[in-house]
Amino acid sequence: MTRLTLARPDDWHLHLRDGAALRSVVAFTAARFGRAVIMPNLRPPVTTTAMALEYKARIGAALPAGCSFDPLMTLYLTDSTPPEEVDRALESGAVCGFKYYPAGATTHSDSGVTRLERAFPVLERMEERGLVLQVHGEVTDGDVDVFDRERVFIDRHLSRIVSRHPRLRVVLEHVTTREAVEFVRAQGDCVAATVTPQHLLLNRNALFAGGIRPHHFCLPVLKREHDRMALVEVVASGHPRFFLGTDSAPHARHDKESACGCAGVFSAPAAIELYAEAFEQAGALGRLEAFASHLGADFYRLPRNRGSITLVKEPWTVPASCPFGEGDIVPFRAGTEVAWRLDVPAGVA
Ligand code: NCD
Ligand code: ZN
Ligand code: ZN
Repeated sequence: MTRLTLARPDDWHLHLRDGAALRSVVAFTAARFGRAVIMPNLRPPVTTTAMALEYKARIGAALPAGCSFDPLMTLYLTDSTPPEEVDRALESGAVCGFKYYPAGATTHSDSGVTRLERAFPVLERMEERGLVLQVHGEVTDGDVDVFDRERVFIDRHLSRIVSRHPRLRVVLEHVTTREAVEFVRAQGDCVAATVTPQHLLLNRNALFAGGIRPHHFCLPVLKREHDRMALVEVVASGHPRFFLGTDSAPHARHDKESACGCAGVFSAPAAIELYAEAFEQAGALGRLEAFASHLGADFYRLPRNRGSITLVKEPWTVPASCPFGEGDIVPFRAGTEVAWRLDVPAGVA
């Protein structure tokens, strides 16, 4: 197969940042995806519907002219989020869910939830009113090995959330382990997962290939080959509750190439192309469209996109770096070839 036309895909987990950084990155996503779920971990975090509406307007203003891209906003759950915020979020029509960051688990998560119990009143309201909970599923306890943090979060917290709130729709974001795949598979229709390109394509050896590789560092951290295989198998099987979420998470080069480098892989400049590569390697290109363009919309109870994109089997080289505000940023697979290229129709920049 040399051309692959897909219904326009969506990205169900994306970081766009704000200001000059936002203006540097948003066009990459808008060229590929019709909609994206926008993560709220700004500084300060997007904790209210009013803040989300303002952020959405800034995203709209940063888009290239004539571009139809719909940001689906999320609110950042804190210990003190009032249940009434759920009502406001829903009534705005612009917010699709609340993001649960265990405090301290990842980039800009210090205002996150410190004890699960504190979130129960909001989760109850979300369950009643049908908003989706997006979860960064890692415990933060220093005594839990960093490679076990997702598994322990599932055992201690996620299993409690889903049994206490059986009708709450929950997305376990960026799944990385075989245990997470098995947990999600074992749940009913209300529990789903997003899968990133880096977790489908790399295992943890990629963090140390010939030296330490800061651009492969994200959270949850890459896992073993045995875990990567579980992710590949479940998406290649066409499971309806595993869908595309890039977790493209831009950080300036100097913040990554540092003695204490930030977590986050910037995949937006080649996101759908990289998923095509992963599905092709798995012999499952025929399942890419559902994963990228149908299953997430179905889970979020939104209409599937109209329109399409085309990928061409023609190798191209990802830029070594991209402008990022005043500085630059190193994208995932910088300077290397990707097998599939996005076909941009003539006349569209
Ligand atoms: C994300 C970021 O940089 O905002 N980083 C990451 O490594 N995934 C935060 C997140 O999604 O956990
Ligand atoms: Zn996360
Ligand atoms: Zn993320």
